Amino acid sequence: MRRPDQPAPQKRLVGAAAAREKAGPVRRVAAALAEPGYILLLLIAIGSLVLLFLPSMPGNPEMLLHIVWWPTAALVLLWRLAHFLFDNRHYINARLGLRPPKAPASYVRALFDDYADYYDNHLMVELAYAGPNLLRGAVDRRLDGRSPLVVDLGCGTGICGPLFRPLAETLIGVDLSPDMLARAEARGIYDRLVEADLVRYMAQAEDRVDLCLAADVFVYIGDLAPAFRAIAAALSEGGYFAFTTEAGAGRDWTLQRSGRYAHGRDYILGLARQCGLIVVSVEAATLRTQRGEPVTGDVWLLQRPTVPA
Ligand SMILES: C[S@@+](CC[C@H](N)C(=O)[O-])C[C@H]1O[C@@H](n2cnc3c(N)ncnc32)[C@H](O)[C@@H]1O
Repeated sequence: MRRPDQPAPQKRLVGAAAAREKAGPVRRVAAALAEPGYILLLLIAIGSLVLLFLPSMPGNPEMLLHIVWWPTAALVLLWRLAHFLFDNRHYINARLGLRPPKAPASYVRALFDDYADYYDNHLMVELAYAGPNLLRGAVDRRLDGRSPLVVDLGCGTGICGPLFRPLAETLIGVDLSPDMLARAEARGIYDRLVEADLVRYMAQAEDRVDLCLAADVFVYIGDLAPAFRAIAAALSEGGYFAFTTEAGAGRDWTLQRSGRYAHGRDYILGLARQCGLIVVSVEAATLRTQRGEPVTGDVWLLQRPTVPA
């Protein structure tokens, strides 16, 4: 498993986004103040105040300080602002009502690298996360026996792993976040863990996949056409594709203000048709809670048809 070098400032700034997603207001302010970027801003503010109230000295030596300080402070502020806008562009897009086709990989990686330590507890205990169990239920109603190759796309810390291990001869997990993958590796359940974008991984898959899982992953991808095409092509004949989607108001997909994507049923049905996949089942379900409110969505089971003899 490869651990890419992450530019630290970016990780920290988007980490603030992760903190926003899960923390209360007091923890949010504390987390923000602990960011090195904000400490730098504080130092600039203090330095500027000192300079503003510095008494004039004979010969005006403080003039040199002014000449150096203000352009430097302005440059640092601009640099921080550019970083902030870049790192939080996904949230900003969501707030502006824009529709980028997916969350940037750097955003997803940084968000979940920061989240990894308390993801399991937060999801399972605080948010009553049901995605993996719902997928297992959908698959159980259909699947007989073990699948030779099961791929868990966006496997995260591997919550699906223990549920699907008994069904898999080989179980592979794929994820963008090295820290989430490290937690999955610690479970000792997956045969292989791969750090990759799921579309790229499936497009290059060498072996046919018998069961493909994506639990709470498509909330980070709006336009699912590339993912569906790659998955449909990689599935074995009769192979299954089980995933969850958050319920959307529109006909296709929307980027919600939370930064998560929602998908309409008609959109998924259309994609399945285009990619030659059969819809075995789709069921509305409560996937988890958010601030005590149920988050509803759909649990899908699609299948690549077997070619008639
Ligand atoms: C909400 S977590 C779900 C994790 C796991 N499936 C579960 O049910 O607990 C979403 C995971 O999807 C991963 N992810 C999001 N977009 C991805 C992409 N394009 N390729 C691979 N992994 C992705 C994230 O890194 C994160 O670990």
